[in-house]
Amino acid sequence: MAALLLLPALALGLYALLHARLGGGARCRSRAALRGRTALVTGANAGIGRATALDLARRGARVVLACRSAERGQAAARSIRQDTGNSDVLFMSLDLASLDSVRAFAETFLRCEPRLDLLVLNAGIASGGRRSDGCNLVFQVNHLGHFLLTQLLLERLKHCAPSRVVVVASSAHRSGRIDFERLGRPVEGVLQNFQAYCDSKLANILFARELAGRLEGTGVTCYALHPGVVNTALFSFVPAWLWPLFVPFSWLFFRDAVSGAQTSIHCATQEGIEALSGRYFADCRPQEPRPRARDDTVARKLWEVSERMVGLAA
Ligand SMILES: NC(=O)c1ccc[n+]([C@@H]2O[C@H](COP(=O)([O-])OP(=O)(O)OC[C@H]3O[C@@H](n4cnc5c(N)ncnc54)[C@H](OP(=O)(O)O)[C@@H]3O)[C@@H](O)[C@H]2O)c1
Repeated sequence: MAALLLLPALALGLYALLHARLGGGARCRSRAALRGRTALVTGANAGIGRATALDLARRGARVVLACRSAERGQAAARSIRQDTGNSDVLFMSLDLASLDSVRAFAETFLRCEPRLDLLVLNAGIASGGRRSDGCNLVFQVNHLGHFLLTQLLLERLKHCAPSRVVVVASSAHRSGRIDFERLGRPVEGVLQNFQAYCDSKLANILFARELAGRLEGTGVTCYALHPGVVNTALFSFVPAWLWPLFVPFSWLFFRDAVSGAQTSIHCATQEGIEALSGRYFADCRPQEPRPRARDDTVARKLWEVSERMVGLAA
């Protein structure tokens, strides 16, 4: 009888140990309070973005959840208000797949919100095919939409300096490449979704690097990061026939959203990291991304081409 009780207890202990060792990661140690500050988090209705918004709301910030679904965005805002007792949490509509939506969002935000202290570029998709005009949707949502959003909000960030931009990238940038001949066009090949995702995450890091350089001396700093491998809806592309394997594997080895949000929260709140503007973080500390993510010539060209693609330059 004792052995029968011992077995599940051992299994539970082993699970807790494995989960803590493999799925944990560093915790953000900042105790910064954010009363009087305004944070904007894209894709804040689920996963890492929701956990980030919840933490910033707990610190007293006014938090704008920029989400594509009004139903999911409003539900998240309601539950964060309830969980934190912070009534300054609100939803605003933003679909990064549409540049018109990004422009409309920025116009509403600038009209309604006098401050912007923290801009967390978190929303992302891992697969998505192409837009009706043939554009690669993953590149559009993960890079171009955020690029335009940042440009449109930059003056407000400067006005509220010291302020920060936090770009949720990924270690997947290691397999990314920037091909200016085909930038924004659908990726071809068997691994097209994976490749498009990696390319967009490389673009995120190059964008943060170039942005930091352009913002030097303004008091606005910028950080890119890898959140770890996190158990979220990002993996909803995994085919149903793989779920019996994938679901237990992800429960055991992946981080939960709260752990996955720690590096975003660190980059948004940790005092004294301003000198590290432009750097790439993982596990709440600066790390070196792959050399191709440190190429300033490519970063500058990506910026200029992106400006043309979103209609900000001739
Ligand atoms: N999970 C990981 O292991 C992992 C690893 C490395 C990096 N990341 C990065 O972490 C970020 C957050 O991902 P997650 O893991 O938390 O995934 P998630 O739970 O799927 O959250 C993604 C968020 O982005 C939103 N979104 C998607 N398309 C959008 C659009 N067109 N306009 C506005 N919002 C849109 C989603 O809204 P809906 O709910 O409406 O779809 C959702 O709120 C992403 O940038 C991802 O690349 C994740």
